[in-house]
Amino acid sequence: MLKPARRAVRGAAIKFIADPWIAGPENCLQYFEDAMIAIDDGKIVAVGDAREVLASGYIGESTWIDHYRDALIVPGFIDSHTHYPQVDVAAAYGEKLLDWLNNYTFPAEIKLRDHSYADKIARLFLAECIRNGTTSIVAFSTSYPHSADILFQEAAKINMRITAGTVFMDSFVPDKLARSAVAAYDDAKFLINKWHNNGRAQYSIIDRFALTSSREELEMVKQLKEEYPDCFFHTHLSENTDECKRALELFPEHRDYLAIYEHYGLNQSNSIFAHGIHLSDDELNRLAKSGAIIAHSPSSNNFLGSGLFDFKRVSDYGVKVNFATDFGAGNNLSMLKTMDSAYKTAQLNGFSLHPAYAFYASTAGAAKNLGWDKWVGNLEVGLEADLVVLDNRPTTLMAWRVAQCRSIFDLLFIHMIMGDDRSTRAVYINGRLIYVDGSLQLV
Ligand code: GUN
Ligand code: ZN
Repeated sequence: MLKPARRAVRGAAIKFIADPWIAGPENCLQYFEDAMIAIDDGKIVAVGDAREVLASGYIGESTWIDHYRDALIVPGFIDSHTHYPQVDVAAAYGEKLLDWLNNYTFPAEIKLRDHSYADKIARLFLAECIRNGTTSIVAFSTSYPHSADILFQEAAKINMRITAGTVFMDSFVPDKLARSAVAAYDDAKFLINKWHNNGRAQYSIIDRFALTSSREELEMVKQLKEEYPDCFFHTHLSENTDECKRALELFPEHRDYLAIYEHYGLNQSNSIFAHGIHLSDDELNRLAKSGAIIAHSPSSNNFLGSGLFDFKRVSDYGVKVNFATDFGAGNNLSMLKTMDSAYKTAQLNGFSLHPAYAFYASTAGAAKNLGWDKWVGNLEVGLEADLVVLDNRPTTLMAWRVAQCRSIFDLLFIHMIMGDDRSTRAVYINGRLIYVDGSLQLV
């Protein structure tokens, strides 16, 4: 006799069974009209058609069942590149990347010198992630070590899967934000010992971008990555044409932008490069070879006028692509709105982005590329139960459109184009119901 699960979630659901880029978008997922996901000790212990799970022995009298109608259960979203210190720069008017950084973003990040301010915005930011159905994040903090420490602490309180770290930047930023490479190296070591593989946290070694690092600093980043090879490396790459030009003015010894990071051993399978819009064929080949990830952040790219990322071209090269908000240049923390922007960006490049690609790059595919698929990203037995229940009727207009759906892909497409934070009916983190019907259950 099986031990009954503590809780079960019932409703329509999808689970990924293949990579849509390989199997084709129509063959990559399984749709259950009436699914049941049985959860025990934070993990999924059974998933499938509700009648089968009900008969499996995992559902007993003591099992609490949450039943969602007019909804779709999907894996919790993974935001593969975002900045928690940038709450104050969401909707900052009128600039492109380099002026936006100087005029808005660096001053906003300086405010995090104040611990209580950093704590306040970390809590606000994480709550906003959850309200949008995001259950795992790959995040920047800023140069102050406490800014990373506080984010890890706040994420640990809600048991959220996170990778983050303190940000190396020793050049061309305001003095109050610059930190010497040696101090940043020591900070990172301290934080790695404290947080790497602590609960659901992992440490990322983060360099803001080549434009704000000296050669000495990049040497230290290299050394740190060699000492801790299983920590992610996370940075920005090739977002804006002025940035690309400046990178090569600062590092003329390298043949292209990616070569700067490569010189310091930073193009690896656990490297995450935000943006990657203006890459040459050769750079794409080298990214495909290393297995590094591009974090595609279309809302940010549109907002800053950075350019049109070519999802099809990059995917055809075999480069891994995850979706990301890049909040605050991306002005919201919604992965659904990110998918909407990705669709519109792809349309302008002559490619119609199928919803299977968009959802995969925000859930199972993102987890696979990050090496997190042993933990999250799908509705599978053994995985941590990070789930989002999407409301099929969050607005009158959406209810009207959803009523006309003929397939699961129609429904996914409507969610990705029309959805936002109002779409989140409920969120489970590691099996715990943390958000339901507009209310956060933080204690
Ligand atoms: N490049 C370097 N820093 C940043 C940042 O904070 N946001 C974005 N979008 N690009 C960057
Ligand atoms: Zn960014």
